[in-house]
Amino acid sequence: MKQGSFITLEGIEGAGKTTCMAQLRLLMQQAGKNYVETREPGGTELGEDLRQLLLGHKHIGMADDTELLLMFASRAEHLQQKILPALNQGQWVLCDRFTDATYAYQGGGRGIACSRIQALEDWVQKGFKPDLTLLLDLPVEQGLERAGKRSAPDRFESEAMEFFRKVRQSYLDLAGKEPGRVKIIDASLDLEEVLAQITSVVNNFLQNKP
Ligand code: TMP
Repeated sequence: MKQGSFITLEGIEGAGKTTCMAQLRLLMQQAGKNYVETREPGGTELGEDLRQLLLGHKHIGMADDTELLLMFASRAEHLQQKILPALNQGQWVLCDRFTDATYAYQGGGRGIACSRIQALEDWVQKGFKPDLTLLLDLPVEQGLERAGKRSAPDRFESEAMEFFRKVRQSYLDLAGKEPGRVKIIDASLDLEEVLAQITSVVNNFLQNKP
């Protein structure tokens, strides 16, 4: 049934996802694709409410399992209400973060066993995965410095450097396991070079898509 493609953007805070999403949008327009742009946690009305609970400071001491389950609650709603219907109508879906973020943040960062995340992934996604994932990789120090210049830190941004080192390493491990799907973009370079890498990866994907 699915006709559109599902492209996700991943990376630690300050990796430049917003700018890269703008480039993805441009590439979709150039290729004449109909697309929707969305994000996680969030993307639906319920998901955006869950995002506030997850990112806000009201529930600072939330249990790790609660955090994990809320991420997947947001994802279940997002998949059913937005992502799958759009793909089935032939639209492309560009998503700022998806399940790789759960492996990186709740798995790597919080230390939840991958097997438990995998069980939820199987349950909620039933084998569904992004067709292409762009992992914006850069040193943690550089990312946090950029993120720090933007706005007051959210609940995740308030974590220590060590947390983000684990997150970054988990992302790189995921890319190592699935090199066909997860493409590493060196986000430490100048903007022009980062955008050129994205253009090359996406155009290559567009050319090879049946
Ligand atoms: P962002 O969209 O501004 O990057 O913020 C989302 C935050 O939520 C970010 O710190 C990563 C975190 N997150 C998780 O911890 N697990 C997840 O599954 C997702 C989608 C996001």
